[in-house]
Amino acid sequence: MCGIFGCLLSNGNASPVIHSSLKKLEYRGYDSVGIATIFDGKIFLKKGQGKIDEVHKNLNLDDLPGNIGIGHTRWATHGAPLQINSHPHFDCTGKIAVVHNGIIENFSELKLELQNLGHIFVSKTDTEVIPHLIEAIMKDKPDFSFENAVQEAIKRLEGSFALAAISSHEPSKLVCARNESPLILGISDNGIYCASDIPAFLPLTNKTVPINNGELVIITAKGYQIKKIRDGSLIERAPEIIEWTSEMAVKQGYPHFMIKEIYEQPEVLRNTLRLQDHYLDLFSTFLDRSTEIFLVACGTSYHACLAASYMFSKLAFLPTYPVYASEFIEQYGKSVNIDSTILAVSQSGETADTIAAVVSAQQRAATILSLTNTIGSTLTRISRVYIGTQAGPEIGVAATKTFTSQISVLAQLALRLAKRRGKISQDEIDTLEGQLAKLPDIVDTTVKTQDAKAKQIAHKYANSKVLFFLGRGISTATAFEGRLKLMEIAYIPSVAFPAGESKHGPISLIENGLPVIFVCQKDDTHKTVISNIMEMKARGAKIIAIIEKDDNEIKEIADDYLEVPQGILGIFSPIPYAIPLQLLAYHMAIELNHDPDMPRNLAKSVTVK
Ligand code: M6R
Repeated sequence: MCGIFGCLLSNGNASPVIHSSLKKLEYRGYDSVGIATIFDGKIFLKKGQGKIDEVHKNLNLDDLPGNIGIGHTRWATHGAPLQINSHPHFDCTGKIAVVHNGIIENFSELKLELQNLGHIFVSKTDTEVIPHLIEAIMKDKPDFSFENAVQEAIKRLEGSFALAAISSHEPSKLVCARNESPLILGISDNGIYCASDIPAFLPLTNKTVPINNGELVIITAKGYQIKKIRDGSLIERAPEIIEWTSEMAVKQGYPHFMIKEIYEQPEVLRNTLRLQDHYLDLFSTFLDRSTEIFLVACGTSYHACLAASYMFSKLAFLPTYPVYASEFIEQYGKSVNIDSTILAVSQSGETADTIAAVVSAQQRAATILSLTNTIGSTLTRISRVYIGTQAGPEIGVAATKTFTSQISVLAQLALRLAKRRGKISQDEIDTLEGQLAKLPDIVDTTVKTQDAKAKQIAHKYANSKVLFFLGRGISTATAFEGRLKLMEIAYIPSVAFPAGESKHGPISLIENGLPVIFVCQKDDTHKTVISNIMEMKARGAKIIAIIEKDDNEIKEIADDYLEVPQGILGIFSPIPYAIPLQLLAYHMAIELNHDPDMPRNLAKSVTVK
């Protein structure tokens, strides 16, 4: 998730406007920043690694000449957060500049094709293929306008993008386009802006034009023109007035970052499905040849590891050990060796316990692989190979979108390993891949249909003294995660354990009216879960079940239920089943007047042991 901005002004220099607008998009990423403008037929550029203020202090981002320009604040996906990888990116002639947010899935193929034509690439980004493609098309079709060349180039892109491009060939034109990544225009008396998000231009105007997937916009002194990328047909769209305050705009109209991030999950999951194959292959090579594999993490990331241990075992027939990072050194520190692999999972990539576990294993020559949401973090620097979870910056302290994105990547890895180890048939692989591809839509439906219902249930149970969270099989991980979400933001003491453990002790706590949340995915555990529900009911517990739509057997015995769509394979269930639990925790916190974004005593990144 990066922030892009572009503008064509009637009066004044573009660069200070771009600079201040990028500052408002900094929550989308801040690894590096860059601005390009055009003046007197020439492109001017400033870009650098670091936060916007640091780069501005060194370079002065406000003094580029010209009334037209583009800018970018980066959250690294392809290529480390270095100056060379920061946007804008250029073609070989330096006459075409592009900023981009999204992921170009077929960039390796395009890069090779362009390199064979003699194009020289300077960065490790996927974005750089775009200006080179535009250049190649302009060379091939000299009669093409700049926007025609952009249109032809983006027809060849697979993946997601919101991009803005300028060229000294046509110095008074700004072209932008969208597929999946957000893009919106702002219209003011002094010019037209394009941006990833409304806050970028909200102080300048509240007149906006939303751009849809598959659309291209040409901005000139005469105004804006929207076209379909597919066939160039014109689209008429008048501006709308947005009645948002700046604070609302940063949260895109949501009252809290947490709920915004819950709603972002379908988009994030689509991005995690765009991982580059060779990283999954590399990971599976290392995992396949190790004699023991530890999945090491803290908090929510640990729950993702716990879910992954079921996936690796069930799909790839590979045993792994999920371990709390803070316990790793005591528990396994001495036994780790050159044949061990540590797969560390961390949203921030900076969690002190996780880093300490990794460093200690590294000293004993173990292989370190990692999964993190923060490229350039300590974890990425000390790992042999890492994969980025593509969730975009998460502001709410409670991890939501990063949990489901971690599991999505780990599920893809389990599948890749299963293939490599020849453990499941091609038919099964096709079914599993098909189901993974559907998860973003399944999550979308779940969020949209269960939000209001979760709010009602939260209202009913918010004054409970204690709650239980139970699941069997892979839903043990989901239950643990549901409990953590509720405890950390609603401060309600909660207990979670595998449902089968009830009768070994915890059931003695059950008394009339105590709410027990059961995560009831439809797999081999379903029948036994029903027995566990009956045991609890018999002792007076109130049952809140998270079920598949039309699971009538459980609907009949539950007091309340939240539903996910039908037909979800048990092995992937933690992704959709986590959603109702996130919503429930959020609404309980609101019911109890707690700020879900900033729970007491907690920090987003825990950098002390
Ligand atoms: O950045 P990390 O994934 O390493 O963070 C681990 C935990 O601190 C984190 O998941 C924490 O438990 C969250 N507050 C959970 O919502």
